[in-house]
Amino acid sequence: MSIAAILLAAGQGTRMQSDLPKVLHKIAGAPMIVHAMSSADALGPERVIVVTGHGGEAVEAAVADWREDVAFAQQTEQLGTAHAVKAAAEALDGFAGDAVVLYGDTPFIRGETLEAMRGARRDGAAVVVLGFEAAEPGGYGRLVTGPEGLEAIVEAKEATPDQLAITLCNSGVVMADAALLMDLVGAVGNDNAKGEYYLTDIVGLARDRGLACAAVTCEEAETLGVNSRPDLAVAERVFQDRRRAEAMEGGVTLTAPETVHFAFDTHIGRDVEIAPNVVFGPGVTVETGAVIRAFCHLEGCHVSNGAEIGPYARLRPGAEIGEKARVGNFVEVKNADVHEGAKINHLTYVGDAEIGKRANIGAGTITCNYDGVFKHRTVIGEGAFIGSNSALVAPVTIADGGYVASGSVVTENVGPGDLAIGRARQVNKQGLGARMVARLKALKASKGQG
Ligand code: UD1
Ligand code: MG
Repeated sequence: MSIAAILLAAGQGTRMQSDLPKVLHKIAGAPMIVHAMSSADALGPERVIVVTGHGGEAVEAAVADWREDVAFAQQTEQLGTAHAVKAAAEALDGFAGDAVVLYGDTPFIRGETLEAMRGARRDGAAVVVLGFEAAEPGGYGRLVTGPEGLEAIVEAKEATPDQLAITLCNSGVVMADAALLMDLVGAVGNDNAKGEYYLTDIVGLARDRGLACAAVTCEEAETLGVNSRPDLAVAERVFQDRRRAEAMEGGVTLTAPETVHFAFDTHIGRDVEIAPNVVFGPGVTVETGAVIRAFCHLEGCHVSNGAEIGPYARLRPGAEIGEKARVGNFVEVKNADVHEGAKINHLTYVGDAEIGKRANIGAGTITCNYDGVFKHRTVIGEGAFIGSNSALVAPVTIADGGYVASGSVVTENVGPGDLAIGRARQVNKQGLGARMVARLKALKASKGQG
């Protein structure tokens, strides 16, 4: 059965106190609506439709940056959830199959949960609603169930005291045949406490037509919605906790899981060790058996099998770290291929560079990659040795087995096996040190007397 996913994202989100539309606020580096869309991906949707309203253009532009397969629908006035679903009618044109309605600000519905809803559809329910047992039912819609399954959803504002006592609440996620859904939302009126077109009314309307409705339940944590900055912080924590648990289940050692922060797309292989206080930005892959020591920051990079990173290392976008290579403390690597077994152990900047196999980069080496206007590359060959405190002024090549003496400023290419010394020659003056100190001491004594 084909599926279309409709994501409602027209809400104002005024409690965020932000110029950015609410659904674009990020969790683990990705807008919350992108998280909501990836839940829907579990169903393999044929169409994904985002209904925008407030800040619609910004939402469309940002979502299009993340995914190409999205159609947009506009709900110019926010007249309620049923009205928002109706806005997707045109984008659904010609689609045959089921539609699932999700909220753009509810990022954590699990794929398994949506699968369970699909199961309930197969079992014969025309409309399937996702509910949860609420710790504090408050303003949530209540699911009224009876011998024939789900009988109605009553919004808190319209509920009788008996109905308010129900703790099974509406998450907002709904699944039904797309044509039926459009038909039902078209029949919803707005004669209610809020004067809104309630999506929840479709259950009563379906029952009036003799159609069966069912509720599927999930954990309350899955239905977490974001309305404020504190909610956003809670959502971040929920994501991180989930991701840490997944990493450990997948064979990753986390010494202090609560201090490791993942991005939405971090890939970590088996038997990787991650020490405390490590932060992953977007686009990181760490392969089997690599070790990430404490206090590292990684973003847009790839760490191969058995490599060791940190402590206190920063890998920036385009850092490609080869097998068993080492990147040590206070080292920054950007847009650079560090090949197998190379060592960059201390206090170094490697940018726009290639470091050959087993090359050794001494402490305090800097690739001077930027002339203020252009970026240039530094190429260091296999087995090359760069002495400490060297500045490699790009574009420059140090060939295989090349050797750079400590403290050099290298501006010319170094041939294979050659030695480059780019510093002033040392001069020793016999006894001058002692004589100089004696003179200074005498000067100090004469000033003290005078
Ligand atoms: C809704 C449900 C309620 C449920 C609760 C779960 C209805 C009538 N009520 O209530 O049963 O318990 O969610 O959180 O559906 N939106 C639009 N356009 C609109 C109105 C809303 O796109 O015109 C979007 C919002 O951006 C939001 C979602 O729909 O993502 C829910 O809207 P909201 O106003 O938060 O509904 P609730 O009153 O919380
Ligand atoms: Mg709400």
